[in-house]
Amino acid sequence: MSLEGKNALVTGGSRGIGRAICVRLASMGAHVFINYVSNSAAAEETRKMIVDAGGKAEIIGFDVADAAACQDAIKQMIKDNKSLDILVNNAGITRDGLMARMSEDAWDAVIDTNLKGSFICSKAAARSMMKSRWGRIVNISSVVAFSGNAGQVNYSAAKAGMQGMTKSMAREFASRNITVNSVAPGYIETDMTKDLSDDIKEKLMTEIPLASLGRPEDVAGAVAYLIGADGAYVTGQTIHVNGGMYM
Ligand SMILES: NC(=O)c1ccc[n+]([C@@H]2O[C@H](COP(=O)([O-])OP(=O)(O)OC[C@H]3O[C@@H](n4cnc5c(N)ncnc54)[C@H](OP(=O)(O)O)[C@@H]3O)[C@@H](O)[C@H]2O)c1
Repeated sequence: MSLEGKNALVTGGSRGIGRAICVRLASMGAHVFINYVSNSAAAEETRKMIVDAGGKAEIIGFDVADAAACQDAIKQMIKDNKSLDILVNNAGITRDGLMARMSEDAWDAVIDTNLKGSFICSKAAARSMMKSRWGRIVNISSVVAFSGNAGQVNYSAAKAGMQGMTKSMAREFASRNITVNSVAPGYIETDMTKDLSDDIKEKLMTEIPLASLGRPEDVAGAVAYLIGADGAYVTGQTIHVNGGMYM
């Protein structure tokens, strides 16, 4: 299906998985809005990649953890472009540490960005989608929402929260032809995983049947399926993209 005429917002679209999703959606014809919080150079690089390939893209900077900023930016974006049809809640951070030593700040930062940010963006976007009676929302979750992970109590709680939110939103919005799904990546090669030690990477290879880290494009492919025509009858589901590490 062509996404010609559709406006797509990808939070955290400047780098990593978000960038691959922006590039993929633009290649399907969507007008892509690349969100970032601090790395404007990376956002510009993503925009240039899309435009150089003949696609349509704009940059829209805001902090998803800042509810007012998020609501204002999305409201303005809808006003300027008539609709917001596709939302990918991809922005995410980690503040890892064992629970016994985890600060409340580390807990709040991860919940506010990964979980509350997705709620705020979805609520703002859904107004436009309900009006046009068409919409696609994809939440980027994680394998650790299902498996848990020592050192990631905050992150796995946020991602498990996104899973519950995905199903409830799918039920609430289905009558307006808005599908809501999640994609749960395993370990993907991005800035988020670049500092994993060789020891950890070696151990991971024993836990991943396909014996390699995933690429951002692997995740973008699953997102494209859910947003494109082939995924139209799929809602409230999760696609696991993890090389088999969780089944
Ligand atoms: N990589 C993995 O192995 C993996 C596995 C499972 C799930 N995931 C999930 O996939 C998503 C993308 O991960 P990634 O590996 O691509 O991460 P990444 O390379 O660290 O990039 C993070 C992106 O999120 C943006 N961002 C962070 N905080 C934000 C905020 N408060 N407001 C707006 N944007 C914000 C960053 O913007 P700036 O460029 O401005 O900093 C950047 O574009 C995350 O939700 C992550 O939890 C990743």
